[in-house]
Amino acid sequence: MADAVGTQQLGFGVDVGGSGIKGAPVDLGRGALAAERVRIETPQPATPEAVVDTVARVLEESGAPEGPFGLTLPSVVTDGTARTAANIDPSWVGTDVRALVRERTGREALVVNDADAAGLAEVRFGAARDVRGTVLVLTLGTGIGSALVRDGALVPNTELGHLELDGHDAETRASDAARKRDDLSWEAWTQRLTRYLRHVDALLWPDLVVLGGGVSKKSEKWLHLLDVRPPVRPAELLNDAGIVGAALLAVESTPRVGTPPA
Ligand code: BGC
Repeated sequence: MADAVGTQQLGFGVDVGGSGIKGAPVDLGRGALAAERVRIETPQPATPEAVVDTVARVLEESGAPEGPFGLTLPSVVTDGTARTAANIDPSWVGTDVRALVRERTGREALVVNDADAAGLAEVRFGAARDVRGTVLVLTLGTGIGSALVRDGALVPNTELGHLELDGHDAETRASDAARKRDDLSWEAWTQRLTRYLRHVDALLWPDLVVLGGGVSKKSEKWLHLLDVRPPVRPAELLNDAGIVGAALLAVESTPRVGTPPA
């Protein structure tokens, strides 16, 4: 969907999370939701069929216009197919999500990793909008998602949450879920995060790191405790980042009718 309403270009994004599936139209001029989002609880077990049924309900309840939309998943996604399932139902691995959505809704979905969508939204409209070079966006939640963006172009599926740290999968040590699970103080958790960020920095030397996920809403409690080389900013789009990034990617990857060949 690349609908022009006055000067407003609209897209539609759906963000699949562990507890809720959220969708809204997005004003792509401002990078903001154009209407209130619709949220429906994520079905349990969150199998591909059950989740896509819920996505269809979100589209219906939002009155989403016909046409392509962006859909995030907490999974590596190549060519519309989910490839991994670190924190989701294992039955997603190998699922052709694009085909399943087409079958269930008759629509085309641009399927994208959740952190990639959120990261691109932060670079285009949020905390990194004025920064060129290498921007690394990390989402700290149940897992750690990553988006690597170089001069505005996304390198998809980086999966830096799964780097090995002290013999562990890094996200099981430094995610927000790990902080809660281990009942860590902000100081103790930030030490783990510092260690993780130094490791990532040594590999990528980003010009800016943006930290997102629910915990970025409380950044005044912990951001100043980080001791790392690159500048670090909290995410700005918060809950909307995935929806905005998914909508953006769907519009930008849909050929426009009437666009002359390059
Ligand atoms: C998954 C990523 C996802 C991240 C955040 C990780 O466990 O492997 O694909 O982006 O969690 O949801």
